[in-house]
Amino acid sequence: MYKLIRPLIFKASSDPETTHRAIMKLLHMVGSVPPLSWTERMIFNFADERLGQKVFGLDFKNPVGLAGGFDKQAEAGPAFANLGFGFLEVGTITRHAQLGNPRPRIFRLEQDEALINRMGFNNEGADFMVGSLSVAQKLNIPLGINLGKSKITELAKAQEDYLYSFSKLYEYGDYFVVNVSSPNTPGLRQLHNKSFLVDILSGLNNHKSKQQIKKPILVKTVVDLSLEEIDEVLEVCKNQNVDGLIISNTLLSRDGLKIKTVEAGGMSGKPIRQKSTDYIRHIHHRLPTLPIVGVGGIFSAEDAYEKIKAGASLVQVYTGLIYEGPGIVKNINRGLVKLLQQDGFKNISEAVGKQ
Ligand SMILES: Cc1cc2nc3c(=O)[nH]c(=O)nc-3n(C[C@H](O)[C@H](O)[C@H](O)COP(=O)(O)O)c2cc1C
Repeated sequence: MYKLIRPLIFKASSDPETTHRAIMKLLHMVGSVPPLSWTERMIFNFADERLGQKVFGLDFKNPVGLAGGFDKQAEAGPAFANLGFGFLEVGTITRHAQLGNPRPRIFRLEQDEALINRMGFNNEGADFMVGSLSVAQKLNIPLGINLGKSKITELAKAQEDYLYSFSKLYEYGDYFVVNVSSPNTPGLRQLHNKSFLVDILSGLNNHKSKQQIKKPILVKTVVDLSLEEIDEVLEVCKNQNVDGLIISNTLLSRDGLKIKTVEAGGMSGKPIRQKSTDYIRHIHHRLPTLPIVGVGGIFSAEDAYEKIKAGASLVQVYTGLIYEGPGIVKNINRGLVKLLQQDGFKNISEAVGKQ
């Protein structure tokens, strides 16, 4: 059904961001009108206890989450929960409000089922987010808050920036993500370097140690790094007791594209699927006890299962949702149950890393 109307949606505006904004408004409306929410749940929900598991201390009803960047301002949480997502990640949020890069800044590469974006962390800032989340409807699924560095903040002061947002938003998130991997904030990826990462994480850990409820901190990384560089990041994450990794953010590499493009920014979707899975396998092999959230090019249950068997406990989708439509969550979850059955696994946790 979605595939039939997709050409109309894609043609609705020459700027995909305009379409995204309209869809977010629609979802916000659906989530605030009870009969529409009920209808949405009836159409899209799928539940099976074999998909449930506890990861970094949180209960997940199913392993499919919404990736960072789709609902940057936490506008449509209830509608995403009704679509059947097992968890939702909002943000990236920065300490300071910022406009991001000039538009257009999202591009569809339809033949490759990919996107290029150079959004640049457009968001209203951490204080505004506190205002939104303090009045938002409480969700029945875990809520992650993804944090980034403001463009105006020097790299040397990045730690203060993350700590500000983390402490302001601490009571509203179930887990937090230190995003050091967007290609669209100049210099951000340098924060993968040991000394920066140690500074940021030790600042957050220090704040966390003073809180009654200890909330998980994850690091979102990227697979443009070499395996040696990734190993260094892993070392820091291990020493700083990071609770999990999200792999991967968008890639600068244009490998795997059928149609070349000159647009700058990070690439997501089908062309990054394999690379992201390969790195998940490598990281799971190195640190088998560290939970991984696998993201990158997931369009089907088979794609999600491939990442789970490579070592991801949870998965997230972004570009797949654009190309496959809102039924993607149910399709993945339903398909996962079949794949688990086929391989003789009793539940999703049994399949993690079994390749
Ligand atoms: C338009 C767009 C905006 C994004 N914004 C963010 C963001 O703000 N923070 C973040 O951590 N990731 C962001 N991402 C990256 C996604 O969360 C995800 O890591 C990446 O797209 C790979 O997954 P996919 O192939 O399913 O899209 C964005 C991706 C896209 C396409």
